This record gives sequence, structure tokens and C-alpha cells, in this order.
Amino acid sequence: MSDSKDTGKAFDFRLFKRVFSYTRPYRGIFWLVAIVAILSAAFAIGIPILVKDIINESLESKDSQQLLNAVVLMLVFLLGQVTTQLLFNYFANLLGESVIKDIRIKLFTKMTGFKMTYFDKSSIGVLVTRAVADMQRIGEIFSQGFFMIVADALKMLSAAIIMLVVNWKLALIVFAILPVILIATRLFQQAMKVAFVEVRAQVSNLNSFVQERIAGMKIVQLFNREEIEKEKFRVINEKHQNAWLKTVWYNSIFFPIAEISNSIGIGLVVYFGVIQNIENVGMDNKGAILAFFFLMDLLFRPLRQIADKFNTLQMGMVAANRVFKILDTDSHIPDEGTVEKADVKGDIEFKDVHFGYVPDEEVLHGINFKVKAGETVAIVGATGAGKSTIINLLNRFYEINSGQILVDNVCLKDYTLHSLRSHIAIVLQDVFLFADTIANNISLRDENITTEQIEEAAKQIGVHEFVSSLPGGYQYNVKERGSMLSSGQRQLIAFLRAYVSNPSILILDEATSSVDTYSEQLIQQATDKITEGRTSIIIAHRLATIKKADKIIVMDAGEIVEMGNHKELLEKGGYYSDLYNAQFLAEEVA
Ligand SMILES: Nc1ncnc2c1ncn2[C@@H]1O[C@H](COP(=O)(O)OP(=O)(O)O)[C@@H](O)[C@H]1O
Ligand SMILES: [Mg+2]
Repeated sequence: MSDSKDTGKAFDFRLFKRVFSYTRPYRGIFWLVAIVAILSAAFAIGIPILVKDIINESLESKDSQQLLNAVVLMLVFLLGQVTTQLLFNYFANLLGESVIKDIRIKLFTKMTGFKMTYFDKSSIGVLVTRAVADMQRIGEIFSQGFFMIVADALKMLSAAIIMLVVNWKLALIVFAILPVILIATRLFQQAMKVAFVEVRAQVSNLNSFVQERIAGMKIVQLFNREEIEKEKFRVINEKHQNAWLKTVWYNSIFFPIAEISNSIGIGLVVYFGVIQNIENVGMDNKGAILAFFFLMDLLFRPLRQIADKFNTLQMGMVAANRVFKILDTDSHIPDEGTVEKADVKGDIEFKDVHFGYVPDEEVLHGINFKVKAGETVAIVGATGAGKSTIINLLNRFYEINSGQILVDNVCLKDYTLHSLRSHIAIVLQDVFLFADTIANNISLRDENITTEQIEEAAKQIGVHEFVSSLPGGYQYNVKERGSMLSSGQRQLIAFLRAYVSNPSILILDEATSSVDTYSEQLIQQATDKITEGRTSIIIAHRLATIKKADKIIVMDAGEIVEMGNHKELLEKGGYYSDLYNAQFLAEEVA
């Protein structure tokens, strides 16, 4: 992925501060985690000290009361350790989840404000990853990275200090093993890093393979490709398995090695402490020896994992960096207009509008036309002529390069985006439905639109019967992307959605192109009703619709080549009449 260049850079303190600024609303939890981490380290360190005292004093003196006290205290420490561990886990995760909940909402809000140009250039997969997987990584900074490192470092440091205090010579002998563990850990980490890149690549291969085959199952079955796909899948699976096994192999080597160095430490302590009897630690100070065994574990165990935790921290920071990059992106349509109209009449005027989606690539070359309020205008022209582009501009999905677009004689830019868009409704050829009920897909969860209103509207445009025939009627859940409905049925729902919003300006962009005859009749009927008394722009292929229009705009290669009504344009014998003869005549005869 293109983000890989972000990794491997030195620790970015400013980024770190920015991530941590999100803990501000959760100060209480933050300090709780910090305190619990310190307590946990204290309990862990307390246990070996207690062991030393029990062995040296209580056992020797055979004072059963003192021994009992020591045992009870030991129990308290153990319970303390378990409890603080539990609290630490819970609150560190709570902090992480709270932070990412806030960042995620901020990110989503930011995304809903981006202009269409941004989405034209961005991959959906990447944006989804930012909002989901990267967030999890950021959360791990808190639940597995930072605080764990602090807690571990605290444990290691206190263990080392206690060792030095109990017996500094023995402590130095133990420290001599540290480099071995450090080097082994480092080698292990490097090997694992490479192995994990491979694992991740194989996981994503597996993901996209399965996803694509499920989505394209019709093709697989229709063309009898089951065996071939199975074989391909077997190969991908094998690679995936091998990648994982490699990490298992490294783990299997590393942990015994780490274990051995621990045992070597124990051996050294026994040899120098007991046999060489450094400073009389030996037989008369059995407690110190035992305490060292515990302390060594406290020193070595975190050491083995600390690199892992740094990795988690680093990965979280990389994720945070990517997410912040989106948060810092300024890519919205400037919303500086102040005009808010409760009603617009629906006059539209384009004045010498030039526009291109990308710089230096003009798509519209000086568009001029006027639509009077209440008129129906049809735009016709070949694919790619720029018909949909005109609509994108009317909504201010994109900003024009030069010229002017006016609604009710007010420049588009002078309206607030909210006000402008509240007066326009569009039905596109490819209807998007959310995985929700039909009623919610129509109202888009606007609470001011009641089910009664929806039903009434449906009756008016003649689709009530169709919706009622579905199981559950208006409460029918259309599932993901509305795949349970035919394209004609989705189209009818989109019509209803547009009608219910009662716009002053209605736009139909090839809304009837991919529809069966039955739906087409319903749609024709709905179109007549829905265009009544409002400005309508219809990009259409069907002659019936075009003929009825008050005005036809004929477009070619980003320019308007002809304008007029059906009769006028036919008489003129230009582009439209050619189009009519080539395309529509057959339709009319049939
Ligand atoms: N989002 C976009 N980014 C870049 N170019 C686009 C985009 N949408 C359309 N175009 C280009 O603009 C031109 C006009 O497209 P469009 O208005 O969709 O045509 P029509 O609706 O008449 O078929 C085409 O050349 C098309 O490739
Ligand atoms: Mg189009």
C-alpha cells in the first residue's frame, strides 16, 4: 500500500501529543490508568521482597504468628496485583475506545463534508480502512502500547533497583545476561516484521479473493469455473498457511531461547550466590536468592515483549498519521452564501458556464440556457456529451471554472448549500438504497415525513400498490444496496423519495433507461405526476418523455448545439432530427 512510506520514521513527538490531546475529555480515566499501572508495578515488586523476608526471618524464627502475618500480606499483594491488572486492562481499553469513538465521529463528519472531487480521487477501500481498521490501531496505542510500556519499564526499573539493593554483585551478574536477551529479541522482532508483512499480504489476498468470488458467483457457476476457482483458492490458502507457519516457527525458536537465558540467570545466581558465596549471600540468606529468581522474571519477561509493544505503538502512530491527514484535508465546497429561501420558484439560468472535473481538461465549454419556473426541459445527446455534468453543477457538487449559474436570479454561491439542496431532488439511473426499510429509504430518516405522508404520496404517483405488495409493505427491508428489488422497483422508490421531498426543481437523470415495460409504465405515470407544477430537467432516452418537454436542449461534446421544442427541432433538420431519425423513429413506429 502507498502508506508504507509512512512507516519506519523516527518517533514523532508532535503526532504523539496530538493523539494524546484526545484523552482530554477523559482526564479521570487517564490518571486512573496511570495510577493503576504504578500500583500494579508496586505489587509485583512487593512479592519478591516479601518472599525474601518470609524465608529469612519468619521461617528461621519459627514464629507462627509472624509467618501467618507474612502469608496474609503476601495474599493481599497477590490480590492487589490481580486487581490492578484487571483494572488496568479495563480502563486502558476504555480510554482507547473512548478516544477512537471521538476520532471516528470527527472523521466521519469530515468525510460527509468533502466535495465530490475528493471522492472521485479516493478509493472507497482506503477510506473504509481509515474509519475502521486504522481506528482500532489508534485504540491499541492506549490499550496495548503506551501504558503497557510505561508499566513494564516501571517494573523493570524497580526490579533492577531492588536487585542492586539486595545484593549489587549478584545484580551485576544478572545484568550481564541482558545484552543476550536484547540481541535475541531484536533479531526476533526483525524476522517477525518481515513475516508479518507477508501474512498481511496473504490475508488481504484471501479477503479479496473470497469477496470477489462471492460477489461474482453467478459468473463462476454460469461458466462452470468452480473447479478452476477451487484450485486457485487452494494455492492462495497454501500461501496464507505458509506465511502464518513462518511466524509460528519464529515464535517457537525465540521463546525457548528467552526461557534458556532465564535459566542461565538462575544458574549464575545459584553458582555465584550459593557456591561462591559472594558476600555471604549464600546459606544464611536463602531469601535473597529466592527473591532474585522472582526479580529476574520481572526483569526479563517484559523485556521480551517490550519491543512488541513498541511495534504496536508505532503502528498506532502510523494509523493516527493517516487519519489526521484526512482530518487536515481541506476539500469542501465553500459554503459562504447567506441566502436561505423557504420557497424558490424554480427559474434556472446558466450563463457561459465553463467547467472541468480536473484542471486543464474542460468538459463544458460555455453553456447558456434558461428554464422558466414550472417548465419541463429535456436534455439529449450522446454518452459523454456532458448532460450529467450540468446536473452535478446545479447541485454544487462541483464548482464551476467560470460563468454563472442562477436559481431564481440568485447566484448559486449566494445560497447556503443546505438551502439550495433542499429545493432540488434528483433521481439517478443507478438508484442507491440503504440497507433499511422502504419507508426510511424514502424519508431518509427525516422525522418530519410521516408514514401517512409517504403512503399518500405513493398513491398520488401510483406506486402504492407496488409497495403494498411487498412483504411488510413500507416496512420491507431492502437489504444491502437494495439487491432484493429489481432496478425498476428501485427506480420507483427513488421517484417516491424525490416526490416526498417536494422540491421546486426536479431532476431525472436517465431514470428510465434500464427498466422493464411494466415499471416503465408506472414510471411514465409517476413522471407526469411528479413534474407537475415544478421545474423539471429530464435527461432521457425515451421519445415519449422528450416529445412532451417544453424545451429540448441538444448537447454534443460539452456544448449546446440546438435548443427548441420537438416540432421546431425536427423542422430545423439538424442534429436533433438526425438523432430522431436514427434512434427514435423505430421506437415510434413500434
Ligand atoms: N467524476 C468525473 N471525473 C472526471 N471526469 C468525469 C467525471 N464525470 C464525468 N466525467 C467526464 O465528463 C464528460 C461528460 O460526462 P457526463 O456529463 O457524465 O456525460 P453524459 O451524462 O452526457 O453521458 C465525459 O467525458 C466524462 O468522462
Ligand atoms: Mg450521464
